[in-house]
Amino acid sequence: MVSKPDISVKFCNLELESPYLLSSAPPTCTGEMIMRAFEAGWAGAVTKTIKPDKTPVYDLKNRFGVMGFETKQMILFENIEEVSKRPVGTWVNEIKEIKRKFPEKALIGSIMAECKEEDWEELARVVSEAGVDMLELNFGCPHGMPERGMGAFIGQRTELIQKLTKAAKRGSSVPVMVKLTPNVTDIAFTAKAAEEAGADAISAINTVLGLIGINIDTFEPIPTVDGMSTFGGLSGPGVKPIGLRCVAQIAQATNIPVSGIGGITTWKDAVEYLLVGAGSVQVCTAVMWRGYRIISDFVDGLTNYLADKGFSSVQEIIGKTLPRLTAWSKLNKDYTVVASINKDLCIKCGLCYVACRDGGYQAIKFEQGKSAEVDEEKCDACSLCTHLCPVPGCITWKKVTK
Ligand SMILES: Cc1cc2nc3c(=O)[nH]c(=O)nc-3n(C[C@H](O)[C@H](O)[C@H](O)COP(=O)(O)O)c2cc1C
Repeated sequence: MVSKPDISVKFCNLELESPYLLSSAPPTCTGEMIMRAFEAGWAGAVTKTIKPDKTPVYDLKNRFGVMGFETKQMILFENIEEVSKRPVGTWVNEIKEIKRKFPEKALIGSIMAECKEEDWEELARVVSEAGVDMLELNFGCPHGMPERGMGAFIGQRTELIQKLTKAAKRGSSVPVMVKLTPNVTDIAFTAKAAEEAGADAISAINTVLGLIGINIDTFEPIPTVDGMSTFGGLSGPGVKPIGLRCVAQIAQATNIPVSGIGGITTWKDAVEYLLVGAGSVQVCTAVMWRGYRIISDFVDGLTNYLADKGFSSVQEIIGKTLPRLTAWSKLNKDYTVVASINKDLCIKCGLCYVACRDGGYQAIKFEQGKSAEVDEEKCDACSLCTHLCPVPGCITWKKVTK
């Protein structure tokens, strides 16, 4: 029996009591909110993105949409919200207050400005001098801001990533993390550009550009602002596979720490991000849906998982899965298995039969009232049946030599 595992992490210069940070978003809109989150147990927070006072932003009404599927009411969230409207001076005062009251918690200042080096340098100077432990450069917001040369407009252009990272580094008195957009062809490429320009860490992902839905009665796109809409940023459980892929690619391509973001809704999601190389994780949508209180489950779940697996610290699992992620061409083409249905567990629903018949290899035999059976000669081990079977453990794999 291992003693209670240590879930603290060192991320760049930050000594975090756990890997859990709040990402830059509505839950970090004010100092009062951030301090309540710290009281609830979050190890740190990234402020809602701070912009120069001269840059106008608007809070559209309304600005959120959701997508559900079958019994799940919400699996994706869309927003067309902009960055913080609050003056820099207000943030400076609140940053000082937060750090005075919670010196042991990590406070990261998220910043964004127009494509002018002097603006990034100045904002980085003011916010870092206010007392944050690190800066995060928002090069990822995919809606509204890019139309004005900010957010993803920068994150999609390596020359701007480099120019503005260098500018922020010149102004900053603390380490600088670059937050990247997934809305690019190759995030490893943009991450390497940031690393070359001197970024101390990368965070990913910001939201994924999308259109959450259309009201088919009124023909209005969602979210609807006076009958109209625009493409927005998707977040929540549905974007986790994109976030995991991006974090793994960045961890493989660079030598700087990565903060993993995107769809983290339970401690298990966080573990997956740690396994693909994230040194810390950030959460937004799950907190907007369920509140700061989810942190206690996140902490307990991770601690118990590490203990059950025999690890003494969270550091031991960071990047553990990375060596198992390789090129398609390097996967074992000789590895052969076939599906095997446990007759005692089969509830004779026929779901596997229909899927295999119409979407697979016609390898499952089924008669009403009898359990399904696999024709091993026809089974191509695509795995469709295993994902559809409602009974855990009913369809398993059998190794064969063909
Ligand atoms: C309503 C909303 C507002 C957001 N505002 C910001 C922002 O100001 N700056 C920023 O860097 N990211 C912003 N984000 C992106 C989140 O920080 C995060 O990268 C993204 O939502 C994915 O994480 P999640 O799936 O845990 O929500 C916002 C997200 C949402 C949903």
